[in-house]
Amino acid sequence: MNIGLIEFPQHTDEYGSLVPIEESDTVPFDIKRVYYIYGVENGMRRGFHSHVNLEQVLICVSGHVKILVKTPWEEKEILLNHPRSGLYIGPMVWREMFDFSEDAVLLVLASDHYRVEDYIRDYNKYEKMAQQYFAKP
Ligand code: TYD
Repeated sequence: MNIGLIEFPQHTDEYGSLVPIEESDTVPFDIKRVYYIYGVENGMRRGFHSHVNLEQVLICVSGHVKILVKTPWEEKEILLNHPRSGLYIGPMVWREMFDFSEDAVLLVLASDHYRVEDYIRDYNKYEKMAQQYFAKP
């Protein structure tokens, strides 16, 4: 369903931990944009969209958050609760982010610049487009 979990390498010593992230090594696209989401109040849900072409990797670098990923035929809830864990989300996957812990910082690596025209925010429109995009199992 165009998603995957990535485990980043981690270097831990008595001074703490360091997680390096390099494109084409652990991230399967050229990183053009980085943004992060934090300070999300308890009970708030974000996202509610898909992208036509954009690829992203989501990393919860502090705290924890749940991600719902959905296509017309499958859906999964993924808990991101470690700075080593990345969730790859490819094109045409509906996503919602929820259950943010108070200290959650959700870092997102993206394959392209911010383009409003790449968003699909209407679920009915998404479903029709995604039924064409994904072959029915
Ligand atoms: P929005 O897409 O609503 O966030 P989410 O999908 O997490 O609910 O984005 C919130 C605001 O931030 C909106 O005004 C668009 C803006 N924004 C940018 O300017 N650049 C970006 O790279 C992103 C992702 C959002």
